[in-house]
Amino acid sequence: MHNLRLLGVVALLLAGASPCQHERRERRPHIKRQAVPQTPLTVEENTLVGSVSTTTLDQWSYYYTHGAHLAGKNLSMAQWTADRWTESGWNSSIVSYDVFINYPVSKSLTLTYSNGSVFQPALEEAVLEADETTSYPDRIPTFNGYSASGNVEAEYVYVGRGQQVDFERLKALGVSLEGKIAIARYGGPFRGLKVKNAQENGMIGVILFTDTADDGKITEANGYAAYPDGPARNPTTVQRGSVQFLSTYPGDPTTPGYPSKEGSPRTDGSAALPHIPSIPISWLDAKPILAALDGHGTAGDLVNRSGWVGALNVSYSTGPAPGARLSLSNVMEETITPIWDAIAVINGTNADETIVIGNHRDAWIVGGAADPNSGTAVIVELAKAFGKLLEQGWKPKRNIVLGSWDGEEYGLLGSTEFVEEYIPWLTDTAVSYLNVDIAASGPHPSVDATPELHQVAIETMKKISWMDTNRTMYDVWYEDTDGEVGVLGSGSDYTAFVHNGIGSLDIGSNPGAESPVYPYHSNFDSYHWMTNFGDPGFLAHKSIAQYLTLLAYSLADTDVIPFNVSNFGVQMNSYYDDLLSTVKSTSSSVETGPLRLAIDDFTQSALQVQQQEEQAVASGDAATLSLVNSKYRDFQRGFISQGGLPGREFFRHLIFAPGSDTGYAPVTFPGITEALQAGNVSTATEFITKTAAAIKVASDILKI
Ligand SMILES: *[C@@H]1O[C@H](CO)[C@@H](O)[C@H](O)[C@H]1NC(C)=O
Ligand SMILES: *[C@@H]1O[C@H](CO)[C@@H](O)[C@H](O)[C@H]1NC(C)=O
Ligand SMILES: *[C@@H]1O[C@H](CO)[C@@H](O)[C@H](O)[C@H]1NC(C)=O
Ligand SMILES: *[C@@H]1O[C@H](CO)[C@@H](O)[C@H](O)[C@H]1NC(C)=O
Ligand SMILES: *[C@@H]1O[C@H](CO)[C@@H](O)[C@H](O)[C@H]1NC(C)=O
Ligand SMILES: *[C@@H]1O[C@H](CO)[C@@H](O)[C@H](O)[C@H]1NC(C)=O
Ligand SMILES: *[C@@H]1O[C@H](CO)[C@@H](O)[C@H](O)[C@H]1NC(C)=O
Ligand SMILES: *[C@@H]1O[C@H](CO)[C@@H](O)[C@H](O)[C@H]1NC(C)=O
Ligand SMILES: *[C@@H]1O[C@H](CO)[C@@H](O)[C@H](O)[C@H]1NC(C)=O
Ligand SMILES: [Zn+2]
Repeated sequence: MHNLRLLGVVALLLAGASPCQHERRERRPHIKRQAVPQTPLTVEENTLVGSVSTTTLDQWSYYYTHGAHLAGKNLSMAQWTADRWTESGWNSSIVSYDVFINYPVSKSLTLTYSNGSVFQPALEEAVLEADETTSYPDRIPTFNGYSASGNVEAEYVYVGRGQQVDFERLKALGVSLEGKIAIARYGGPFRGLKVKNAQENGMIGVILFTDTADDGKITEANGYAAYPDGPARNPTTVQRGSVQFLSTYPGDPTTPGYPSKEGSPRTDGSAALPHIPSIPISWLDAKPILAALDGHGTAGDLVNRSGWVGALNVSYSTGPAPGARLSLSNVMEETITPIWDAIAVINGTNADETIVIGNHRDAWIVGGAADPNSGTAVIVELAKAFGKLLEQGWKPKRNIVLGSWDGEEYGLLGSTEFVEEYIPWLTDTAVSYLNVDIAASGPHPSVDATPELHQVAIETMKKISWMDTNRTMYDVWYEDTDGEVGVLGSGSDYTAFVHNGIGSLDIGSNPGAESPVYPYHSNFDSYHWMTNFGDPGFLAHKSIAQYLTLLAYSLADTDVIPFNVSNFGVQMNSYYDDLLSTVKSTSSSVETGPLRLAIDDFTQSALQVQQQEEQAVASGDAATLSLVNSKYRDFQRGFISQGGLPGREFFRHLIFAPGSDTGYAPVTFPGITEALQAGNVSTATEFITKTAAAIKVASDILKI
């Protein structure tokens, strides 16, 4: 799934849509910087980087993008992945889970105007001669994973991006929602939450569409040719995707908190699944449906919500239009079926420390050239690079585990079930989890990570030449982000790791405002798109593969785990400042003192362990080094709270979590912040106590 991030355009829209998200990407004034020289590499690092080849990346990409691989539908692809890893000297196996899932059977949508005439949307994407996989007979229809089956007919209302605030605005405007169908625009919150909000407002079905406003200036209206002739969006593009309630819990919805094995007890999953039907459509299909609302209800500009009015030539009126009705039918097949994770291991000399690297393999479409198989090509290439060192008799200090997850798109199934099965071992040994989902959908690198990893993540960028230019990845990344590493919310497979206290990082490369439009979750996310528009020559693939390989190598093989735990204190201080602003803006009276004291205590402990590390390194004291490593490995477990966040037990990390109504974007000190936003002072106070206690536990783990 992954949070679709387009630098510039979407970042602005996101910020406007939800000012309370604490997206930590403040813009500092742009200072002209000196280019940073590339850090020299060691012999082993040179071997790793030199082994990464665009020729093999291209081969892997071709393989993964020429066969259907929807969750639970392609065992041979899992086996093929494990076989590549075995060839490179890793010990590989397949782990399977039995999950509840649903697959599309049939659907229909009809608009009947008040005068009785009818508009019949196409619902499927164009077959393009230039792009061979768009015509594959086993291509996957447009649908929403985990949509309910249903057959509904009603008048309909445009609900903007479908956040809770959008529905509140509609109610304030007196628009009746009960018994109506919603048409919602993509962007902003995770799509499942749009459906959840519609359902909770008594609506009976949802149509989701992509607006060309999300494409910034690269549109046909601005004179750019559409795919396959040019970089603009093909008008028939449809974004498939899951409508699970991601911010409630990910993983198999029928086995919350434990692995889905044959014979596992199951709930009905309704806590995390919608009971109303939904389907996604293209802007071409959406335009007449929106146009029929023109002049009815409140016009879009008067609704006065950011992200409400898009770029189609309609007024984005709320409706309903009396007598204009949608008839929506969606038939899904429900099943409990195996999914397959491919797993590979290199055992380290120290059995008690493990680095896990993962990427999902399943896609909504035959292609999936960017999402997720640019990342899959990268981890196959990474395994091959480590194979070069294994051939030389190398053994890392720490275990390295690779995961090729199935079922990510439906709701992070393969990674969540794996974590739920192996949690005792992961709790004992996991040092970090490194995720790569969309490795390459454009030329702008981006990294989100837990704070102890920021420094090593940034230093590693200085070792990489970006896309065969003479600029380092660091310089390119710094220019885009002003040196800010993002906070992890959700939307990819790091989620179950983070919320079990395992620090994580997510790496990828995205389009910018000038880049070809990325056809996310569409048939056009294909090998043809990738080689002509997304990453011609596989140069972004190459740089990301080199980056992830060197980062994994640093984490797995340095004497001291290369964490900067002080930075966790620095970051918590800035989250604390944000919290004080929230307290102020919500005029709440809460006592934040205990949190202040706990952060100060953590800062002291971090300094102490860093001094302990320096002394141990200077004196070569192996026992102390090993003690420092175990503190670094374990401290983040302290941030985990039994019982989790209010109403969502799965999300247990008290320092950051996806927002309840964003699904993707993070909230810091989530238990406190979201309670304050909801005006719930007693819960805010309770979570100040819990969060302070959790920080104290983490701090105590670091103490001498
Ligand atoms: C699985 O994927 C491979 C590689 O893309 C493809 O050749 C094969 O046909 C797919 N299998 C199924 C059952 O779709
Ligand atoms: C009915 O209304 C629609 C939308 O305004 C219009 O396109 C169509 O031509 C009308 N049909 C008839 C028969 O008037
Ligand atoms: C639109 O909303 C903004 C802030 O939410 C408010 O300041 C402004 O007055 C509103 N404008 C209208 C026309 O209602
Ligand atoms: C927008 O729609 C109006 C009314 O339907 C039409 O008159 C106008 O030509 C359209 N503008 C563009 C740029 O297509
Ligand atoms: C794979 O397992 C075998 C024995 O089970 C072991 O000898 C070998 O070292 C392992 N390989 C790696 C890369 O860990
Ligand atoms: C590799 O490590 C795993 C996990 O610690 C252990 O179960 C396995 O026996 C080890 N294999 C070898 C060959 O040491
Ligand atoms: C990098 O390449 C550009 C364009 O090829 C060139 O103008 C520039 O001088 C080079 N910079 C360095 C530091 O080599
Ligand atoms: C750790 O990070 C902090 C702040 O982010 C920085 O001030 C400090 O110098 C770093 N420590 C080391 C040893 O690099
Ligand atoms: C505050 O939140 C708690 C936990 O979600 C809930 O039980 C309680 O009813 C809420 N109180 C108010 C006043 O909304
Ligand atoms: Zn993905």
